[in-house]
Amino acid sequence: MQTPELPTLNIIGAGRLGRTLARLWYRRGVFAIGGICNRSIESSASARGFIGAGNAVDKLHAMPPADVWLIAVPDDQIAATAEILAPHLPANGQALVFHCSGALPANALAACTPALLVSAHPVHSFADPQRSLDELPGATVALEGDEAGVTRLQHAFHALDCHCLSLTPEQKVLYHTGSVMACNYLTVLMDISLQTFAAAGIDSETAKQLLAPIVLQTARNNFALGTERALTGPLVRGDVGTVARQLQALEALAQREPEHSAPSEVYRTLGKAALPLAKRAGLSETARRQLAALFSAHRNDTAP
Ligand SMILES: NC(=O)c1ccc[n+]([C@@H]2O[C@H](COP(=O)([O-])OP(=O)(O)OC[C@H]3O[C@@H](n4cnc5c(N)ncnc54)[C@H](OP(=O)(O)O)[C@@H]3O)[C@@H](O)[C@H]2O)c1
Repeated sequence: MQTPELPTLNIIGAGRLGRTLARLWYRRGVFAIGGICNRSIESSASARGFIGAGNAVDKLHAMPPADVWLIAVPDDQIAATAEILAPHLPANGQALVFHCSGALPANALAACTPALLVSAHPVHSFADPQRSLDELPGATVALEGDEAGVTRLQHAFHALDCHCLSLTPEQKVLYHTGSVMACNYLTVLMDISLQTFAAAGIDSETAKQLLAPIVLQTARNNFALGTERALTGPLVRGDVGTVARQLQALEALAQREPEHSAPSEVYRTLGKAALPLAKRAGLSETARRQLAALFSAHRNDTAP
């Protein structure tokens, strides 16, 4: 029996995400790879090497025709890239064009109408494409756009063992902000935590060794127990004196080294944000008020 011809995929912007998806789809026999277009030919050729198929080009007009187009350039360039792509698409609307931004709706590709337009956001960090090849399965992909296009891409992502979630365009910004809070800001918190350890004279290797088990345990507890039961520490215990001493120490650090003012600002802001959660987790009203006053007090006025 003859293998049916695979639909072809062209990639504009085969960076971390683009090259990972293209390689996985190629290896799983979901798409044949057509053109690969980055800004420089060297970068396109490097992506081609990673994907293992396709033609590296550095000009959009050098791309071959394709059934499906992935625009995986940085978010701010998606709409402009769609405008450049539009004249290269068939006028009968047969093509499917999609981007992978979490924040933008499919409509960012409006210039490519009448093609089917979809946004497909994998809730995954493509920090290292090689690792993502193994770690993407199991991730959720949030899809939104033209129904026929969404259905086709659901099949493509199911073939990579991903889950799919349908969104409306109105849901996209807050949906994506939720991921930024839990994922990107977790990394920021980790960096601020390491700055605080460094201020105590503890080097980052030692700090990371110390943090790895408890950070991973906390992440697991959030999912297994829920945030109310996962919250531990001085704030939820109502140890107002301890919280005040920590805030004072961070403010003294910020005064000494103004480039390290983030730890005290974040401690104060997250402390305030934690109070309703801590209250639900059993913090007394008296302690809640004392902590609220502490977090709202001016700098240098945080003595217990
Ligand atoms: N990274 C993630 O974890 C992640 C997760 C979910 C969704 N996304 C989404 O995926 C998309 C791509 O993100 P990324 O992290 O993969 O970006 P990236 O690693 O920075 O790659 C962007 C690629 O776009 C190319 N490019 C930039 N401008 C271009 C242009 N005008 N024409 C052709 N190619 C161009 C760059 O080429 P050069 O190499 O030549 O500069 C680069 O290869 C974004 O929409 C992002 O929101 C990313």
